[in-house]
Amino acid sequence: MDTAAQLPVARTLTDLLASVAAWRKAGLSVGLVPTMGALHEGHLSLVRTAKQRCDRVAASLFVNPRQFGPHEDFERYPRDEAGDSALLASAGCDLLYAPERAAMYPPGFSTNVIVADVSTPLEGEFRPHFFGGVATVVTKLLLQALPDVAFFGEKDYQQLLVIKRLARDLDMPIEIVGCATVREHDGLAMSSRNAYLSADERRVAAQLNLVLHEAIKNIRAGKPIADEEAEAKRHLLASGFTGVDYVAVRDAATLAPVVDLNNPARILAAAWLGKTRMIDNMAV
Ligand code: PAJ
Repeated sequence: MDTAAQLPVARTLTDLLASVAAWRKAGLSVGLVPTMGALHEGHLSLVRTAKQRCDRVAASLFVNPRQFGPHEDFERYPRDEAGDSALLASAGCDLLYAPERAAMYPPGFSTNVIVADVSTPLEGEFRPHFFGGVATVVTKLLLQALPDVAFFGEKDYQQLLVIKRLARDLDMPIEIVGCATVREHDGLAMSSRNAYLSADERRVAAQLNLVLHEAIKNIRAGKPIADEEAEAKRHLLASGFTGVDYVAVRDAATLAPVVDLNNPARILAAAWLGKTRMIDNMAV
């Protein structure tokens, strides 16, 4: 039997609203897991967490053109709706919401959601278009589904902070829950973009997490934060990364630079392996 066929698909907002309304009428709570597809165990962990917290779970699949820069990988981003649908069904998802691009952004679409402060550093510096695109599409998805709870991964830590901030600032009656990063056996954070890596690049990729671990260990032992940031960059380049956008220890709530560990801190990094950009982060 085709397992993909087991998961109902809503392709229009009208279909989504009908499903959610039926759940609401039955008194059921609703969780939403937004994704861009090419699903892996990281995404599925969000669905499983959602299923523990909520009676019904919808996952959205929309490769959002507005969060890709002009020279980024929108065209070649991996797409496999049938495979994704089967995986979602196996994780207990109740509905796939896969809207058309033209319905999400019809002609004349003119609104851009900009979250200041927390969007500005790190990813905001290197991908200036990115958080405007994310905040706009996530605002739409949250308002469309109006879930009780929406689930996002700590893998994209700054994105999680941006989304928490917009939900709070716009008084959305939605709880935003962050879920731990799911990793491969060698520590590499799972990502749809890992599919781009050659076998050689894949071996080097695991260094990203190891280098962050090492920096955290040294910082906890009292070494200066700035020295460890610089050392981590050197180590990444020496291990075969072709570029490092940043390795930074930041306040875990505001992403402001930190000089000591008096408040919770996070180490965040973005680095290149050829044409593939990889990010990772961990609590310090
Ligand atoms: P996407 O990269 O498909 O990720 C969807 C969700 O899965 C995000 O919340 C992301 O943080 C989470 N995720 C990805 N890899 C993970 C991992 N290894 N462990 C745990 N969670 C992981 O992030 C996006 O899509 C988009 O920006 C989106 C929020 C859908 C807006 O378009």
